[in-house]
Amino acid sequence: MPLAAPVVFGNWKMHGLRDDAEAQVAALASYAAKQDGGTLGVFVPATLLSLVAGALRGTGIWVGGQDCHGSLEGAHTGDISAVMLRDAGATAALVGHSERRTDHRETDDIVLGKAKAALDQGLLAVVCVGETEQERDADQTEARLAKQIEGSIPDGASVDQLVVAYEPVWAIGTGRTPNAQQIRHAHQFLREQLAQKLSGGAGVTLLYGGSVKPENAAEILAIDGVDGALVGGASLKPESFLAIHAAGLSG
Ligand code: PGA
Repeated sequence: MPLAAPVVFGNWKMHGLRDDAEAQVAALASYAAKQDGGTLGVFVPATLLSLVAGALRGTGIWVGGQDCHGSLEGAHTGDISAVMLRDAGATAALVGHSERRTDHRETDDIVLGKAKAALDQGLLAVVCVGETEQERDADQTEARLAKQIEGSIPDGASVDQLVVAYEPVWAIGTGRTPNAQQIRHAHQFLREQLAQKLSGGAGVTLLYGGSVKPENAAEILAIDGVDGALVGGASLKPESFLAIHAAGLSG
């Protein structure tokens, strides 16, 4: 499936039970049936993957897990492999989200292993990067992003199978966003880093994430170099999630 802009992916995080999920994805499916521009996807809790993947089959909407292990199988209690994601119907995997990097002490090297496992299984790998507020204040944003791209993006990854999400840690769930110039600059920098690392790397789909809402979506999605958004809180209600996508389409 090609990734036509705007690419709007929802990250439900640790939210969602079967009853709500059914209604939510029915709304996504009916929206997708009515228009064919752009790209939609949802990264749902592992417990909902089969249900959501089944409900969205044939709609063109990507369905992903929020993490996968770096190994394809083994003695790793509580973990989920990329093989299992695929088996449950997922077409994508989110790896290296800042909440995973913080809560589970995931290093760039660990994230690299996860991204490789996802690619190995033919999943779209969505790799998250982003600086902390302290790093931005200390003028370390570029250094941080360069290190994360170098350390967590697999060499030789195909640009069609890879998405990079720029998510400043201080913008996630806070209601604060960088200004347009900061976002443009970060995306331009990431594109240069990706161009150096991968053949065709300048063409990688780059998403902005962190407090994207219907109110700021049109402005953010219109920024040069921004191919779409990774949406947390506002993806939990189909109305606001789809309004973000619609804002990108009409921009
Ligand atoms: P938010 O989360 O939209 O709630 O800020 C974004 C994310 O963590 O992907």
